[in-house]
Amino acid sequence: MQPRLKIAAIGCGSRTFIYFELAAKQPDLYEITAAADRNQARRDKARALAQNPNFQEFHDDVAILAAPKLADLMIIATQDAFHFAHASAALRKGYDLLLEKPISTNLRDVLALEKLARELGRKVLVCHVLRYTPFYRRVKKIVESGALGELVSFEATEGVEPWHQTHSYVRGHWAVAEQATPMIIAKSCHDLDIFSWLVDSPCVSLGSFGGIQYFNAAHAPAGAPARCTDGCPVNGKCAYDAHRYLTDKKGWLQIIFDRAKTATDAEIKDWLRTSRWGRCVYRCDNTAVDHQTVNMTFATGATGVFTMTAFSEGRDLAIFGTKGRLLAGERVKRTAGCDIVVEIFGVGITERIDIAFDPDGWHGGGDSGLIRTLYAEMRKPNASDMDSSLERWVESHLMGFAAEESRIKGATVDLADFRRRHGG
Ligand SMILES: NC(=O)c1ccc[n+]([C@@H]2O[C@H](COP(=O)([O-])OP(=O)(O)OC[C@H]3O[C@@H](n4cnc5c(N)ncnc54)[C@H](O)[C@@H]3O)[C@@H](O)[C@H]2O)c1
Repeated sequence: MQPRLKIAAIGCGSRTFIYFELAAKQPDLYEITAAADRNQARRDKARALAQNPNFQEFHDDVAILAAPKLADLMIIATQDAFHFAHASAALRKGYDLLLEKPISTNLRDVLALEKLARELGRKVLVCHVLRYTPFYRRVKKIVESGALGELVSFEATEGVEPWHQTHSYVRGHWAVAEQATPMIIAKSCHDLDIFSWLVDSPCVSLGSFGGIQYFNAAHAPAGAPARCTDGCPVNGKCAYDAHRYLTDKKGWLQIIFDRAKTATDAEIKDWLRTSRWGRCVYRCDNTAVDHQTVNMTFATGATGVFTMTAFSEGRDLAIFGTKGRLLAGERVKRTAGCDIVVEIFGVGITERIDIAFDPDGWHGGGDSGLIRTLYAEMRKPNASDMDSSLERWVESHLMGFAAEESRIKGATVDLADFRRRHGG
């Protein structure tokens, strides 16, 4: 029997907590040995989740990386802008990585990290959790079975959902794309990863459009102040009233406010008065787009169209092959009552598939699927033996950064040329 995989983490926020909780449920496979975070309450929570009397805690990345190597694998789950520095230092220290997306906030660093991991022979698994959901695994299996024939084109939509858009991309961590990552990377790099994985071919060229159509000053209600807590005339009527963090949106508060469960309403209101999540959604400094489309063509000749919009909820996918089509996602669920429909030309509907609910179902079962896969992937002798190499993970970032350039410049982007221009 192989030894347990020792895991440690830099950055103890919502992501590390999920991974720790899932890993702790499989004590025969994983041992959580250490974590670093600047926040004591978060270190305490990490320690509690680790269920290991020998757990070690550190104040930050520098302290944990100065200690002798404490684990086989380091989770890198600080905020986007720190991933490259923390990931490079951990690789150099000898750790394999479970690296939160984005790999970095710019393509040059993404490609530099790819090179570093290759030179050092380290294994890196990027947290593209959608790949590990039972839903996308089933879609992939159907495509691979050949039932649809050759994959010719696809249409996909990611509906962010308006409140989620405001929480994360208008008020929240990813609102100012220049300080975090462009929306198409921050929210949709999972989708871009899924497309190249399903087509099983690199994207060669793409074009993109989009912008902020709604969450801007032009749509502010008359007399709305900078903050919902400043006596807004539409308090209680506005869909984005920050006071909803006290009522029906309290679940969202827990992601950003450590004392959400214990604080009184008065304390939460006080926090909203200064927090970025108390601001009017029409009067923020957001630069992240609220809608964007990407048109792609792949090396096989297949083409795809993707729409990210704040104003829908959930994902939709249609795959068109030479023998039949596959329709899946939220709209199919609503209209056909199942998750996936397969229709073969001249035959009709051959499959209506329901995907079983995952009780550990964060991200549609993607987080638990990832932790289930992680052990086997990290126990493989070489990085090149892994099911998905860092080279393939980089593909989604290449597509995302190229889409952002296309959106801003209004021109199609050749991916090979784009990669060369960024040092790849
Ligand atoms: N894979 C996914 O589906 C998915 C979903 C959400 C978020 N993410 C990504 O995961 C990452 C983490 O997200 P989160 O919501 O957990 O973030 P978070 O802000 O809740 O947690 C980050 C933690 O890092 C700590 N930190 C900051 N600097 C540090 C340092 N130098 N050393 C040690 N700790 C430090 C902070 O104190 C904080 O607790 C982000 O990059 C985000 O984009 C991925």
